[in-house]
Amino acid sequence: MNKLIFLDNGATSFPKPKEVYDFMDYFYRNFGVNPGRSGYDLCLETGAMVEETRRLLTRLFNGRDPNRLCFSYNSTDALNLIIFGLLKEGDHAITTTIEHNSVLRPLYHLSKYQGVEVDYLPFDNRGFVDPDDFPPKFKKNTKLVIINHASNVIGTIQPVREIGHYCRERGIPLAVDASQSAGKIPVDIESLNIDIVAFTGHKSLLGPTGIGGLYVREGIDIRHTRAGGTGVRSAQRTHLDEYPYRLEYGTPNVLGIAGLRAGIKWIEKTGMAMIHEQEMRLASLLRDGLKEIPGVTLYCQDDLTDHIAVLSFNVHGLDSPNVATILDVDHNIACRAGLHCAPLVHEQLGTASIDGAVRFGIGPFNTEEHIQAAIQAVREIAAFRKKAS
Ligand SMILES: Cc1ncc(COP(=O)(O)O)c(C=O)c1O
Repeated sequence: MNKLIFLDNGATSFPKPKEVYDFMDYFYRNFGVNPGRSGYDLCLETGAMVEETRRLLTRLFNGRDPNRLCFSYNSTDALNLIIFGLLKEGDHAITTTIEHNSVLRPLYHLSKYQGVEVDYLPFDNRGFVDPDDFPPKFKKNTKLVIINHASNVIGTIQPVREIGHYCRERGIPLAVDASQSAGKIPVDIESLNIDIVAFTGHKSLLGPTGIGGLYVREGIDIRHTRAGGTGVRSAQRTHLDEYPYRLEYGTPNVLGIAGLRAGIKWIEKTGMAMIHEQEMRLASLLRDGLKEIPGVTLYCQDDLTDHIAVLSFNVHGLDSPNVATILDVDHNIACRAGLHCAPLVHEQLGTASIDGAVRFGIGPFNTEEHIQAAIQAVREIAAFRKKAS
């Protein structure tokens, strides 16, 4: 059987650049102690690496103050800190149907148990939300607008700048889930009018699992929803108010931060625009190939402007998990089927009742051969299904 073709980069990027594995190994063997707790050399070196990574990420998001870059476990963790730390009983929030469960579930929780009201704005038939839909929904008690930057199902990049502009006019904080976009396209908080950005390390930032975080713009204060050790001012009874400690709790994942640092450096060296351009060239090839196959339906892929290289499709007459299993077992192609933790996207596409869709996510190490093999595999599956019916 051929070597594995990994087209599940929407779930996590694989493989990582060699530099990521190498640096994690080097760092953890040689440093990798608890930073900020003591004054011996290893501790200082580890702390310096953590602070350097804060600076790299702050620069990536065009933030001003590296102390406002807080590490968390992943974007789900960061999004929970944001949502629970900004909303309380009687507040109103606006989000969209393009969101991942990392946004939807904390919001459902608050609306079910804590009296928070939430509006969900739909996307259009091309997969984009309309910024002009936001202002009519603003209320006196609207305390948060939270949106996905790039869809993990259909790959569309949302018009964040325009939405942010409306939010700024009303003084409402805009939080952006950059899980799919950070590392693929610029997430510039200044030009996009973003107040808070949540990211995860293991997808397009090419780091390992278990590391993520958020950047919080000056003037926005997220309430504490947790408390614990920070390594500084241990006599203080309550959790620290200043960033980054305000939103960091306990020993950080220094190994994860080391891997993330190496991932970001690899992206900087290779060039984010170059990576994105190559991925989109492959996405376009994939889209064109799948489009020609009788019985294949693609979702929101007519025009790939303002898209990342993630697309979903179905083969008529086959459940998406079956297609994914055949791709895996017969063709050694890894992808993801089902609802992709984004149930409202599938409800709107009409695919929730047919078990979702098959998703291909392209990464920096995919090649044209991978794409041709994937097209050929789907062609065979669709032809076989047609013959069988
Ligand atoms: C758009 C989006 N948001 C949030 C997440 C959650 O990321 P993590 O599992 O790393 O917290 C994902 C991951 O699939 C995602 O695609």
